[in-house]
Amino acid sequence: MYKTLLVEIDNSICVITVNRPDKLNALNKEVFNDLNAVIDDVYKNPEIRSAIITGAGTKAFVAGADISEFLELDTSEATELSARGHKVFDKIENSPKPIVAAVNGFALGGGCELALACHFIYASENAKFGQPEVNLGLIPGYGGTQRLTQLVGRNLAMELLMSGNMISAKEAMEIGVANKVFPPEELLPKTKEILSIIQSKAPVAVSKVIECVNDFDHTQQGYDLEIKKFGECFATGDAKEGASAFLEKRKPNFKGN
Ligand code: COA
Repeated sequence: MYKTLLVEIDNSICVITVNRPDKLNALNKEVFNDLNAVIDDVYKNPEIRSAIITGAGTKAFVAGADISEFLELDTSEATELSARGHKVFDKIENSPKPIVAAVNGFALGGGCELALACHFIYASENAKFGQPEVNLGLIPGYGGTQRLTQLVGRNLAMELLMSGNMISAKEAMEIGVANKVFPPEELLPKTKEILSIIQSKAPVAVSKVIECVNDFDHTQQGYDLEIKKFGECFATGDAKEGASAFLEKRKPNFKGN
């Protein structure tokens, strides 16, 4: 049914696995379409009471947006891409049923943003988190500037977003990005365990917890600014240089315009 996702329902938990391991599960248009459809199903399907998002293979959760789709984008196309991604991630964030990220490897760029859009994050010991968009002459385009700042505070967010540095699972837990860290083989069982506990609670109360927590200090203005600024990056030569350098496996030569 889905081209880029593996989906199974286990004890009313919908386990959604992004399945492009040869591209480290990078988010291309198809993944976004599939994610949009499966989250609709999570909302509507009475057999599903909660969901887990994880990545195929042992190396990556999701290593970002698919950079090969970036080369030809102009400002308006990039703005549209960002806005469409925001819609899907907002749908995850506002799901009335709990959605937990089981981060089993690299969660970079759009992958980190996908995890941040989930209601909370469990990680494996080999997980790595980061927002490396500045390496490509870009900024996050799927909510990262807002959700990361909300979660870890201004100064840590500034450092992570401006340096593009990756942090380990342990560091992610210390700054409140990951709630818990497990050996890789325990990640899914432990994520299912917490969801079984949550599923034993009153579903309407759980969905109202999600609504209230999401409403805390939440302004659409910040997201709209990010969409606009992400699009504007694509008017720069540096954005083309960043994506080309990644795909050609060389260091970018940024000119500042
Ligand atoms: N978009 C498109 N392709 C990606 C990708 C992405 N975000 N991340 C990884 N891939 C592809 C690589 O191009 C490579 O494809 P190839 O085998 O056809 O050449 C494959 O996935 C494996 O990645 P590779 O870079 O060879 O693995 P590595 O172990 O050397 O490095 C990373 C792993 C995660 C450090 C590295 O892939 C990386 O930096 N990815 C991009 C991260 C990023 O900038 N994300 C934000 C995008 S906005």
